[in-house]
Amino acid sequence: MCTIPDVTDKLSSMISPSLPSFPRRFPTGLLFLSFLLTSSMASCQPTPEHKTQMVHPSPFIHPLFTFDLDEWNKLKSQMPLKAHQDFEPFLDDMAQVLSENQNLILVDKKNPLPEEWKPTELLSLDSYSQLIKNKTGMQLDRPALESLMNMVQAAQNEGITLLISSAYRSYNYQEKLFQYYVQQDGESRAEHYSARPGTSQHQLGTCVDFGSITNDFVKTTAGQWLHENGSRFGWSLSYPQGAQEKTGYMWESWHWRYIGPEATAMQKNYFEDSQQDFLEFWSLHEERFRSAWKDSELENDPAPKERGE
Ligand code: DAL
Ligand code: ZN
Repeated sequence: MCTIPDVTDKLSSMISPSLPSFPRRFPTGLLFLSFLLTSSMASCQPTPEHKTQMVHPSPFIHPLFTFDLDEWNKLKSQMPLKAHQDFEPFLDDMAQVLSENQNLILVDKKNPLPEEWKPTELLSLDSYSQLIKNKTGMQLDRPALESLMNMVQAAQNEGITLLISSAYRSYNYQEKLFQYYVQQDGESRAEHYSARPGTSQHQLGTCVDFGSITNDFVKTTAGQWLHENGSRFGWSLSYPQGAQEKTGYMWESWHWRYIGPEATAMQKNYFEDSQQDFLEFWSLHEERFRSAWKDSELENDPAPKERGE
């Protein structure tokens, strides 16, 4: 007697809440039926152990991801509440963020960069007269610079000038800067607003300090414009007001990190707009999502070009 593996009970309860929206790109009903058929046929193979040893198939959870059931349950329990409750749009967004492949490295007091770490393609801001700068010699990694150009232009179209005051900082530069502040203010005070070498996001080449580098910036039209529009260009405020315990630094309304518009949307939708929470989650789980995504890409996605790859 051939029976369908009992794992399907678990699967149907996981899949059924998301069935109504699946037909967007895939005939889910057919896929699900073929999955059941394949699973039950697999269990009917004439192996001596077939009654006791069950093949544990990867469940069909989302068209773009394939997870092992146990791994998925573990992962799901660690997902933010909103993603946990409605995981299909979360996985849609996750696929977008993965495909953009922006620099989402977590850099903070507990997660330093190696001294020799450098951005992939540092470009000089001096070559771009459209950018208004308060000094020469600043650099950014290409994706951040390209986005900055677009954002500056959009602000300019509304009569607003975004002054660029600091960009990439090497490990050595940050070392001197931190020491300077220690001499000025003492180590324990300096630690609240200046990063030790290796722990500054500026070493990533994807951060910009705008305007006066004081919190008066937020009162300016440029500061307000950036707070309203930065995220749609992929810029995220790294050290928000009231988040010092979480980020390790005082409020810095001027310090913005480029993570890409897909990631700022995910940060906003699922992580209460906290960059720190989003990047901590990303650093813990990116590899799991990425390998599940690649697997599903190979096994389930007949047309990867649809995603613009
Ligand atoms: N001011 C920030 C924390 C830095 O030094 O990178
Ligand atoms: Zn900064």
